[in-house]
Amino acid sequence: MAKRKKEQVSLEREFLQNLLDNIPDAVYFKDRHNRIVKVNKFYAAGFNRKPEEIIGKTDFDFFLKDHAQKMFADDDYVLNTGKSIIGKIERTLLPDGTWNQVITTKIPMHNKEGAIIGTMGITRDMTAYAHLEKERLDMLTNVLTVLAKTIEMRDPYVFSHAQRVSDIVEIIGRELSWDENRLLGMRLASQLHDLGKIGIPLEILNKPGKLNVLEYQLIQGHVQNSYDLLKDIGSPFSLAEIVYQHHERLDGSGYPRGLRSNQILLESKVLAVSDVLDSMTHHRPYREALGLGKAIEELEGGCGLKYDSEIVGIVSRLARKNNGNKFWETN
Ligand SMILES: [Fe+2]
Ligand SMILES: [Fe+2]
Repeated sequence: MAKRKKEQVSLEREFLQNLLDNIPDAVYFKDRHNRIVKVNKFYAAGFNRKPEEIIGKTDFDFFLKDHAQKMFADDDYVLNTGKSIIGKIERTLLPDGTWNQVITTKIPMHNKEGAIIGTMGITRDMTAYAHLEKERLDMLTNVLTVLAKTIEMRDPYVFSHAQRVSDIVEIIGRELSWDENRLLGMRLASQLHDLGKIGIPLEILNKPGKLNVLEYQLIQGHVQNSYDLLKDIGSPFSLAEIVYQHHERLDGSGYPRGLRSNQILLESKVLAVSDVLDSMTHHRPYREALGLGKAIEELEGGCGLKYDSEIVGIVSRLARKNNGNKFWETN
C-alpha cells in the first residue's frame, strides 16, 4: 500500500515537473518577501539563465525599478488579501529598450494549515497578439479618418480642419498628461466632430453673408447629426458624447443642450478650445482668417466663462512660447 502511494506521489510529481518544463509560459513561486523560490525553464530562458541561477532573487534583479515596484505591489496585494490577480495585462519596458505585452495571473500559496506562505504566478507573452491588435486598431482608426475626410472633400473651406483640430487637441492632451488611450479617443473625436455637416446644404454652410436665424439653426444641427451618426459605434471612449458637447460653453450659452461647466466633459472642453483656435486662424466664406492673436484674445476674454481656464492657460502659454505663431504647425 505504502509502495503504491509512493508511486502515485512520484507520478504526480512527474506530471507537475513535465508541465513546468514544457509549458510555454513563465511560472514562478515566491516567498512572503517576494523572493523567487522556484521558476520553470521558460521563465529562466527569458533571462538567459538556468532556473537555479534565479533562486533567491527578486523582480528588482530583472526589471526596471518602476516596473519591479508595481510587481512587488501586486505580490503584496495577493499576500495581504489572500485574493488572486487574474489576467492582468501589462506592458513591460525591457532592459534592451524594447516593449513586450504579457498577461499575468498571481495566486496565493497556502501551507497545510491554510496560512499564506507566498505567491505563485504565471505569465504569458502576448506581444504577437498585441501587434495584431494594434494592426486592427490602426485599420479602424484609418477608416474613421477616411470618413472624416469625405466631408472635407465636399467642402474646401474645412479642408484639413479636423486634422488640425486633432493636432491641437493632442498637444493640449499631452500638456494635461493624458495617457495614450485617452489621446487616441480624442484624436478620433477630433477627426469626426463635424461629421454631421454632411447633412447640411453646402450653400448654407458656405454662405458668404450673414445667416438668418433659420440658417443658423440648420448649421447648429450638425452637432446632433454627428452624435446620431456616431452613437452606435460602441467605442471604449465616450466618442459620441465628446463630439455632442463640442459647441457647449461653460456658462450654458453653447448648443445644442446649453450644458454648464460641470456637465461638460473635459475632453469636449479641450475640443471646443481647439476648434475655436483652428476656425479663427483659417479663412471662412464670410471672413478672412483672423490670426492666432485674435483667437487667443477671444479665448482669454471667455476664460472661465465660456472656455475652461486651465486649457486657455495652456494654449496662451504655448502661443507665447512660440512667439505668437501657431504652436501646432511645425514650420
Ligand atoms: Fe462643430
Ligand atoms: Fe469644427
